[in-house]
Amino acid sequence: VEKLQMLYEGKAKKVYKTHAVDQYIVEYKDDATAFNGEKKGTIVNKGIVNNQMSAMLFRLLKEMGIDNHYIETLSDREMLVKAVKILPVEVIVRNVAAGSMAKRLGVQEGKTLKIPVLEFCYKSDELGDPLINDDHVEVLELATKKEISKIKSYAMKINEILCEYFFMKNLKLIDFKLEFGLFEGEVILADEISPDTCRLWDVDTNEKLDKDRFRRDLGNVEESYQEVLRRLKN
Ligand code: C5P
Repeated sequence: VEKLQMLYEGKAKKVYKTHAVDQYIVEYKDDATAFNGEKKGTIVNKGIVNNQMSAMLFRLLKEMGIDNHYIETLSDREMLVKAVKILPVEVIVRNVAAGSMAKRLGVQEGKTLKIPVLEFCYKSDELGDPLINDDHVEVLELATKKEISKIKSYAMKINEILCEYFFMKNLKLIDFKLEFGLFEGEVILADEISPDTCRLWDVDTNEKLDKDRFRRDLGNVEESYQEVLRRLKN
C-alpha cells in the first residue's frame, strides 16, 4: 500500500491518504507532548510500541464485537485503517481516580471508583479540550443523540474487555481515552490505545507504566513503554 498526500499531522501521529478512498495510513511518531503542548519531548521507539499495542488491542476488540478502524499492520510504525471521520470528542473512562479528575475534584489519586466514570472532552486546542457533558455534545453538534448513546455503551464494554485483558498481564487499567469516528454512517472506534492514552499501573506495586512517567519526569520512560508491550506479548 502506497502513502499518498499527508492529510493531518498531530502531536503523536501522521495520517496519509492511500489509493483507496476508504483507507488511510496512520504513522506513529516518537514525539511526545503533555499539558496541551506546553511540554515537548521524544520517547525513543514510542511509535513502534504504540503501533504494535494498538494493533493488538484493536484485533482483540474486533474479536469481542467492537468494530474499529484497524485493518492491518504495514510496518513497525504504520497501520492501514478505515478512513473514518473522527468525531471531535475525547471519551475518557476512569476506574481509579488519577490525573485531572483527582486534581479537579480533590479525590486522592489511587482511590478506586465505585463505578466506572465516563467523561467527554471537546477536542479543541484553543480551548484546551474542555470537559463537556452529553447535552454539550448534542448542542455543539459534535455527535447525534443516537451516536452519543452508542459511544457510551461501546466505551463501557471496551472498559470491561480491556480491564480483564490488562489484569491478566499484571496491569491495572486506571483510566483511558478513546476516540470514535464515522465510517459508512456508523460509529466505530478509532485513534489509538497505548501508554500515551491509558494509565496503566503494575498490579503488585502500583508502579506507573504509562505517559505519566514523561508528564511527571519520573524517569524510565522508554523502559516503561517497552515493559507494557513485553507484558502484552507474553
Ligand atoms: O489528564 P486526564 O486525567 O484527564 O487523562 C485521563 C486519561 O485520558 C489518561 O489515561 C490520559 O492519558 C488520557 N488522555 C489522552 N489524551 C488527552 C487527554 C487525556 O490520551 N488529550
